[in-house]
Amino acid sequence: MTATDGVYDRWSRNPRALRLLYAVAFAGREATFRRRSREALSPSAGEAVLELGCGRGTTLGPLREAVGPDGRVVGVDYSRGMAETAAAAADRWENVHVVRGDATGLGVRADAFDAAYAAMSVSATSDPTAAVATAARCLRPDGRFVALDARPFQPLPLRVLNPLVVPVLRVLTDWNHAADVPAAVEAHFETATVESYNAGTIYVVSGAGPRDNDGRDALRG
Ligand SMILES: C[S@@+](CC[C@H](N)C(=O)[O-])C[C@H]1O[C@@H](n2cnc3c(N)ncnc32)[C@H](O)[C@@H]1O
Repeated sequence: MTATDGVYDRWSRNPRALRLLYAVAFAGREATFRRRSREALSPSAGEAVLELGCGRGTTLGPLREAVGPDGRVVGVDYSRGMAETAAAAADRWENVHVVRGDATGLGVRADAFDAAYAAMSVSATSDPTAAVATAARCLRPDGRFVALDARPFQPLPLRVLNPLVVPVLRVLTDWNHAADVPAAVEAHFETATVESYNAGTIYVVSGAGPRDNDGRDALRG
């Protein structure tokens, strides 16, 4: 069991605390940014969508609604508590599945998905670049990837708060605050765009056209 597993197992048992954390992290605009990120992904009927670091399964329902009964949604989370909670939530849909797995080295068939999504989870992994590479690897050639994520304050004077805020969040959430998720998306996708909100602390990065889809036959683990 890694540190990440332990931290998020605790969060999985405390949904109220998690909601409070999100209220602070999103400065009260959680629903807006989550919706914006889903719009950027734009899943459509019949598509197969992978969610990396699905947590308690918050986004599985909206994704399932978008892909409809003919589509497929797979959620992956490393924390046993999170994966079990999400799996229980997904039980009501026969085309939504949750597995416990490591997004940074997932054994997933290349070409298996039309789209991949991650909300506040790429920067929670021990290797954000590897998590983005997983997303790219599992997508079809015209596949899309969207990550909603957070980074420290960018502009002055708010930047002076980072030495206070960042260490606390690192302990509470295993936050990999220095992760350059947009750079990883640029490296692994033909096109990458970033929208920033809340003084740069929240962003939605979208990638289209995975670059590294060689070796499509490989099952990786
Ligand atoms: C801040 S939570 C976000 C959960 C959910 N996506 C949401 O929006 O509420 C980060 C999640 O990433 C998961 N996670 C961290 N490292 C992971 C990894 N290597 N593979 C899969 N999931 C991971 C954690 O267990 C946790 O559920």
